[in-house]
Amino acid sequence: MKIYAHRGCSGSYPENTIAAFKAAARLPIHGVEFDVHMTKDGELVVIHDESIDRTSNGRGFVKDLMLGELKYYDFGAWFSNSFRGEKIPTLREALYVFKDTHHHINIELKSDVFPYEGMEWKVLEMLKEYRLEGRVVISSFNHEMIQLVKERAPHIETAILFMEVMVAPQDYASVVGADALHAFFPTALRKMGKEVIASGKQLRVFTVNEEFYANILQAVGVHAIFTDYPQEMYNYFNRTSFSNN
Ligand code: G3P
Ligand code: CA
Repeated sequence: MKIYAHRGCSGSYPENTIAAFKAAARLPIHGVEFDVHMTKDGELVVIHDESIDRTSNGRGFVKDLMLGELKYYDFGAWFSNSFRGEKIPTLREALYVFKDTHHHINIELKSDVFPYEGMEWKVLEMLKEYRLEGRVVISSFNHEMIQLVKERAPHIETAILFMEVMVAPQDYASVVGADALHAFFPTALRKMGKEVIASGKQLRVFTVNEEFYANILQAVGVHAIFTDYPQEMYNYFNRTSFSNN
């Protein structure tokens, strides 16, 4: 079972910051996950929420702020004073951290609340420029955008994100054009989890921070987990003679 650093090493560093990504890039884990929104001036930035209120000293929606305005705010001090000065990363800056590492990169397009029309084009262009097309999976709760990504770039791995206990989600994923399914932890233990695994599609599960549950997921054959504590999870599984890569 593979390990992805969720929002970077977000249990130990401020989520979705360069500090969190550099920490992930140092680890011998399989991959990293982060979230992308679009600014008022059409720039792609890495942040989880639609607004900057929770993770910065500023206020407002990303969609209403220019990149230059966003760069003014502090995105580290809310987590700990020792991270004061962390800025919101652009997608370009985040990708740069991983351009020469082995890590698989999960880019989540956060276009399910605000549509951010055209953001998928910008992401695809940047992946081509960075020659990262073979080392990414693009996911979203906005399955219409995943369908667009697959239509425009069939060679890029795609995934649907979902929270529900679904009926035959592997068939639905094929309708969308998704190669993989990224499921909310408890739902992966239902019948559908086994069906997805049997279908041959990748089943990755979020967000798993406890070794007890990671063990159960490994036993049912889940392919990967997203965790806020990738170092600790890696250490745990390697102590128990488990191969991560
Ligand atoms: O991509 C897995 C997971 O990150 C989805 O949920 O809310 O943490 O973005 P969230
Ligand atoms: Ca995410």
